[in-house]
Amino acid sequence: MAHSEAFRKQRRKLLLAGVAVGGLGVAGFLKPEAQTTGHSRYFLTLQKALREKGLATPTLVIDRQRLNHNIAVIKRCMGEDFSYRIVAKSLPSVPLLQHVMAATGTRKLMLFHQPSLNQVTRALPDSDILLGKPLPVACAGRFYRQFETAPSGFKPDRQLQWLVDSPARLAEYRQLAEQRQQPMRVNLEIDIGLHRGGFASQDALVWALTIIERSPWLTFSGFMGYEPHILKAPGPTNWLRDQAMVRYQQFVDTAERTLGRSISDLTLNTGGSTTYQLYQGMAGQIPANELAAGSALVMPTDFDVSTLADHQRAAFIATPVLKLLDRTRIPGAPGLGRLQTLWNPNHARTAFIYGGYWKASPVSPPGLVNNSIYGRSTNQEMLNFAEGVPLKVGDRVFLRPHQSESVLLQFGDLAVFDGAKGEITERWPVFGRG
Ligand SMILES: Cc1ncc(COP(=O)(O)O)c(C=O)c1O
Repeated sequence: MAHSEAFRKQRRKLLLAGVAVGGLGVAGFLKPEAQTTGHSRYFLTLQKALREKGLATPTLVIDRQRLNHNIAVIKRCMGEDFSYRIVAKSLPSVPLLQHVMAATGTRKLMLFHQPSLNQVTRALPDSDILLGKPLPVACAGRFYRQFETAPSGFKPDRQLQWLVDSPARLAEYRQLAEQRQQPMRVNLEIDIGLHRGGFASQDALVWALTIIERSPWLTFSGFMGYEPHILKAPGPTNWLRDQAMVRYQQFVDTAERTLGRSISDLTLNTGGSTTYQLYQGMAGQIPANELAAGSALVMPTDFDVSTLADHQRAAFIATPVLKLLDRTRIPGAPGLGRLQTLWNPNHARTAFIYGGYWKASPVSPPGLVNNSIYGRSTNQEMLNFAEGVPLKVGDRVFLRPHQSESVLLQFGDLAVFDGAKGEITERWPVFGRG
């Protein structure tokens, strides 16, 4: 008896020791290593280019070669199978859009904001615009009023499709069209599984199409069905074909039955950056005839996904280091900075940078980290880095935006970096806020 008690105790000790050693092993495995390499040659060249242009405020850099690489990937994937519609909110700069339009040979844009809509119809009168979200009818009215004060060659009756998501909104748009005696093209948002609104039932669609057909002012111009949720499905390509596109086809069939004509020549839009590559080989087997994408051209971090593995990172925030400290010190908590460093040696030293707290993550020098305990600042943000990183006051640090649509608007004109010349060659103004 005494024997087996001793044996149990011994076994418990051994088990506990095993767990402790295992825990230490896991901790050792998770413990970050110091990264001391400093900027790569790419970022050193970019830093030099910014210095030479005297760009010492936080600057949003677009890498022209990488942008062109991403454009080439999109062109190759879509080929002649689908038309390409540029998601303008994710590339919110007229010269940037002009560059992409010229390189891809498309006039098709997707817009999401009324002031940008007025700006684009003025600056790009040749464009073909589909709204990507249903704007309040007051925005549609405001668009026409502002357009009248500064008309361009753009013909809203032919080149603009408003997005309508519900019977109630259709009634409002019809009223606006009647009041203004304004022909309006209406594209209907359909729910193909994202559940972000839009027409979900075939009955509601029949009702909407009937209203549009009866109106002397409204014209049905097609469907928009967005499906980024597909990427999270197991076997996304099958889901796309067997679920989302089957639903899309039901809406098309209902529309063709109701209208008594084919709608294959209308705008049948789908896709986004994370899904557009899944459509390769599907042309002709699915109803959609055009794919939208924007962010994939500049690749903010939210787009680091397997379907965009062949795209390159083309957008960076560059900002100068204003101050350097030898140690990381947290006010009111002596020793805490050292404790952080014990666990993560990349907390050893401190830089205060010009600006900060953007929706962005530091990428260069590698190992640069935010300090969650010290807190964030939009004015002079603290970043930490390891002992031995060659970083001086006046050097630039680089961050990658998480998404492009609002972040690209925060830095004034974009700085276009030509890696072949090692120079900032152009400045591209961004959309006004309106
Ligand atoms: C309707 C619609 N289509 C396409 C996109 C894709 O845009 P991006 O390619 O920039 O992700 C979006 C993004 O929000 C969208 O709302």
